[in-house]
Amino acid sequence: MSDVPRLSLSPPDCRTLLDASRELSHYSVSSDADGFVLEAQVQSGRLSSDLRRALLEFRRFGDASGGLLIQGVPIGELPATPDRPDRLVGAQSSCGACLSTLVACLGDQYGFRPELGGSMVQDIVPVPGFEYDQISVGSATDLCAHTETAFSPHRPDYVALLCLRPDHEECAGTTLSSIDEMLPLLDAQTIATLREPRFRTKVDPSFLLGDNLTEEICIDPIWVLGRSEQRPHLRVDFAGSLGTEGNDPPAQRALEALCNAARDVRTTVRLKAGDLLIIDNNRAVHGRTLFVPRYDGRDRWLLRSFVARDLGRSADVRPGDERVVVPDYAAEGISA
Ligand SMILES: [Fe+2]
Repeated sequence: MSDVPRLSLSPPDCRTLLDASRELSHYSVSSDADGFVLEAQVQSGRLSSDLRRALLEFRRFGDASGGLLIQGVPIGELPATPDRPDRLVGAQSSCGACLSTLVACLGDQYGFRPELGGSMVQDIVPVPGFEYDQISVGSATDLCAHTETAFSPHRPDYVALLCLRPDHEECAGTTLSSIDEMLPLLDAQTIATLREPRFRTKVDPSFLLGDNLTEEICIDPIWVLGRSEQRPHLRVDFAGSLGTEGNDPPAQRALEALCNAARDVRTTVRLKAGDLLIIDNNRAVHGRTLFVPRYDGRDRWLLRSFVARDLGRSADVRPGDERVVVPDYAAEGISA
């Protein structure tokens, strides 16, 4: 398992980010997402060439660990951790602006309508009653390793997580397992099977909740390993019957071998305040180890953003050319 490369922000880059956040405060991230993201992309041009180069190299080549950690993002004085994720507290904060300016080097921020209305920046906080659920507001059980929105052909190329406040015990870890490190642990037959459309995966419960859907939706069939042989993409959620399953016994065995490989190569990052972890969602799965929330306003609080390298690929499912995908589950099968 490779350590995630770490990069500390220089004082000039911190000042640039704070300047950028002042410029971005003129735009409403909720009612003018395009204005907000475009301004973040303009402001990102003011970051140092060293920082931009690191981000662009990660965009071009990735990393054996599947992630990049940027430390020292200015956080400033924080309000209480929101008790619900739908208040969009972080989205309008200077932290949300710093996050947006940094990820602007990688592509376009966007969202999914069922997930917090498709906000460009989302609060990830523990919510009472969901402690044991396999969704982002869970806490007291490990969140199984997964590709973000594995069920969607429009899943993000990058998932960015900015830690504003760690959990009380600072024990929650974000896990990463990259396909580059898993592949050497798999035999040729397993790899060949994973490349075939012999799997199905469930739509996340949070997406169903967000669209007031009560029936489970399964996307079937899908491949788990796709695109190029040299640099394959992953599409999998190891949440068992809540995630991805094989459609026949050999496919299920191949999936279990992949799951074991992901566990064997896993690296864990315990995010501190001001840490921004960028996950290569095509080439790595991520998860979270458990923590105990107290619901006292000081709980773990992350900001999350989804980034697409080419927003145009999802044009058909973004009504009005907005930055928000409205999923069409009937069309979300193998081709992606
Ligand atoms: Fe996730």
